[in-house]
Parts: sequence; structure tokens; C-alpha cells
Amino acid sequence: MTLQELGESLHGCQRCKLSGLGRSRVVFGTGNPKAAVMFVGEAPGFHEDRQGEPFVGAAGKLLNDLLQSAGLSRAEIYIANVIKCRPPDNRDPEPDEVETCKPFLLQQIDLIKPKLVCTLGNWATQTILEKKVGITKIRGQAIRLKDFVVFPLLHPAAALHQGNLREPLHEDFRKLKAYLDQLNTPAPPGQPAQPSASATSAECQPAQMDLFGS
Ligand code: URA
Repeated sequence: MTLQELGESLHGCQRCKLSGLGRSRVVFGTGNPKAAVMFVGEAPGFHEDRQGEPFVGAAGKLLNDLLQSAGLSRAEIYIANVIKCRPPDNRDPEPDEVETCKPFLLQQIDLIKPKLVCTLGNWATQTILEKKVGITKIRGQAIRLKDFVVFPLLHPAAALHQGNLREPLHEDFRKLKAYLDQLNTPAPPGQPAQPSASATSAECQPAQMDLFGS
């Protein structure tokens, strides 16, 4: 199955109660279907539900600035959410909604095969890591999973609501840029090659963190 076919298969999805709670469309995801870097947010909001694209409202504008600061463009990355339909009044996703939609996020990751999955906020981070760990504890560091590296970041919407999170959010993206720069730096002569952005995820050498250990 292609990414496009997967998206088409979800048109008009009625697998969970959100289809009857005022969402106008499924917001599947957007960007480069072969992206090396993928971003995962929480759920579509008002503007995303209207336009059918993730991160097109105020949080999306801030995300665009942050991406630019990290040397990334929306055209080269892929963006999706944990759940594909807008919850009423932008409430938090409920566990049954996440459980229903999560397989489609995992299928997107499987098809895109990104080297790096940047999770925005608690929902995306906990869903991808399958671990109830607070974003403030693990933000700004690379965590290797079997097939890709996860880089948890604060959610831009959190900084829009809480001004004191703006600087920490920018700090997270500075760390992301440093991580990407390190991946792209050629090794000095005589040194073992640095992992490059085009390397397979198994070759990446992120800062290790024993998240799944004892
Ligand atoms: N917040 C999200 O998590 N996703 C969007 O698409 C928009 C805002």
C-alpha cells in the first residue's frame, strides 16, 4: 500500500466517535512521502479541520518559524498527528480515540521510513514511545528505537498558551538543529565516518538514553 492509498482509505473514517462529534474531515498528513524527518503532533484543531492539513493555524505558523530556525522546510519533512480528526472544542484525545487511530500513524511511519521522528508534546511522545513519560523530562534529546530515532520537543501550542514555554521551545529546536548538524558533519580525515542524514537509522548514533531499561 502507498501512503496515498492509506490516506484515501481513511476518507470519511467512522472508526471512532469523533466522526459523529463535529469533525468535518480526516486530516491525514502532509509533506514529503520520503521524508528523512517526520513531525508528529496531537490532533487537528479548528483550522486544520477546515483545511484538511496539519498545523495550518497559529501553532502551525510558530512551527514554521521553528522549522526554519532548525534549517528545515515544510517541503522536505512530513507532518501528521496522533489522531486524524478534530476533538470537539479541541479537548484532549481520549484513550479509545488514540488506540483506534494509532495504527494509522504507525503505518504512515512504516511507509515513509523517516530516520528521525520529532514528537511534539506529551501525546505524540507517549504514543510513539509507548511509555507514560512527561515531555518536560525527556524533551530535547534523541532516543533510539528499533527503526528510527525519536526526538521529543515541546508542542508549539503549549508555548502559545504559556509564554514561559517559548524560550524552552526555542531551546528544543536549537538542540534539534545541533543534532541534525552533527549527523551531517563529515568526519575529519582519519576518523570513523559520522552518521549522515542519509544513513540508515541503524547507523545513527544519537545520544543514548536508557528509557526502556530498569
Ligand atoms: N496541533 C496539533 O497537534 N496538530 C495540528 O495539526 C494543529 C495543532
